[in-house]
Amino acid sequence: MSRFAALAPPFQWGVATSAYQIEGATSADGRGPSIWDTFAEQPGHIEDGSHGRVACDHYHRWQEDLALMEWLGVGAYRFSIAWPRVLPSGTGPINTPGLDFYDRLVDGCLARGITPFATLYHWDLPQALEDRGGWRARETAQAFAAYAEVVARRLGDRVKFWITQNEPWCAAFLGHAHGAHAPGRRDPKEALFVAHHLLLSHGLSTQAIRAAVPGAEIGLAHLYLHAEPASESEADALACRHLDGAFNRWFLDPLYGRGYPEDLLTHYQNLGQLDATAPAFVRPGDLEVIGTRTNFLGLNYYTRGIARSDRVPEANNLPRRIAEAPLEARTDMGWEVYPAGLEAALLRLTRDYAPAALYVTENGAAYADGPDAHGRVHDERRTAYLEAHLLRVAAAKAAGAPVRGYFAWSLLDNFEWAFGYSKRFGLVHVDFQSQRRIPKDSAHGFKAAIGAARKGEAG
Ligand code: FCB
Repeated sequence: MSRFAALAPPFQWGVATSAYQIEGATSADGRGPSIWDTFAEQPGHIEDGSHGRVACDHYHRWQEDLALMEWLGVGAYRFSIAWPRVLPSGTGPINTPGLDFYDRLVDGCLARGITPFATLYHWDLPQALEDRGGWRARETAQAFAAYAEVVARRLGDRVKFWITQNEPWCAAFLGHAHGAHAPGRRDPKEALFVAHHLLLSHGLSTQAIRAAVPGAEIGLAHLYLHAEPASESEADALACRHLDGAFNRWFLDPLYGRGYPEDLLTHYQNLGQLDATAPAFVRPGDLEVIGTRTNFLGLNYYTRGIARSDRVPEANNLPRRIAEAPLEARTDMGWEVYPAGLEAALLRLTRDYAPAALYVTENGAAYADGPDAHGRVHDERRTAYLEAHLLRVAAAKAAGAPVRGYFAWSLLDNFEWAFGYSKRFGLVHVDFQSQRRIPKDSAHGFKAAIGAARKGEAG
């Protein structure tokens, strides 16, 4: 990889992970159970029957993992904090050993010149809160803000970059309408007010962190779906607007102070999923809280969605997204490799929402390549994926998008939610039996690209 001079410092190169996907040690040092422990332990939920009890054992191997990051030369690390390690019941007494773990991790980052980006919610809700209504209950948003304050007070002298929520679309719709993610519920109506409570929790926690941490930079990581119509027909254009609306505008419009988009409100009302275009779960003042100023928008980008009006709608009445790409142009997730969508996304967000800054908070690809007889992992497709996407970031930056950083998903092969360990996204291969880590060729490529960008080399 070369030609990354446009991404020279102060542009941040980083890697991303999340707590449940890598930490393991799910009952160590007073951690309480989360909805993902419960969900994964129930048969039929995880493709390979696995769970996160051990995962990458990062809870015990974090120093080795930080050393890998130092070797890579990344300037930033996006990790998530497990709410049930800090507050085992979601509210109430602080579990100091749990918080101490992140304290050590943050110090470890700083000692290696790595800027920590802390995500407060990457889907591992304390089970005790789920038992009290989970994200269906408005109180959970308040509980989240209180948890954010606890963490911010402890780490805020050293952590300046905060991500409140990771991908509210997944937590709301995969978790509550499709049943594919914890807590495994299937009620499209519910997904709408869950989404609202997640956004509300974002706004409340943004305020709490800002009050506790002078100079904090706060944002949310949004799963961006780049929607394109299957044809030039008016019907497909409408389907595309709807797909973009359901994934992107439904979250970003309120986040940027515009409230929920009218076309989608009417749509959900027509489906009987909302009682009125001003739904009762939106209380006076909520939209102001959700629209609380942020410092950046995080963008998780993987693929595009093609909207066709004539396909049977999905469960929550989204136009079916179809993958028209040939199999060899898709990753092991079945997701089309479509780098142009990342550039389009960065420019569109800049144009339509004018965020103060943008970070690509996740981007990467699942490919199964494992070690050969010499212990090398030749994952050319991942190297090509990362390079193509990074070039699009550079292009968007040159065209005026205020993009300040890029985080590859992920440092390590890890527990890929409903797919278990069957999908490998890591730059570093993990043998889940021995816990041996092997940097793949893509890790070497990423390291070289970072080195070239650092030197401002044109390459
Ligand atoms: C994103 C998630 C992340 C990982 C990648 C592949 O939706 O935020 O945890 O699973 O997808």
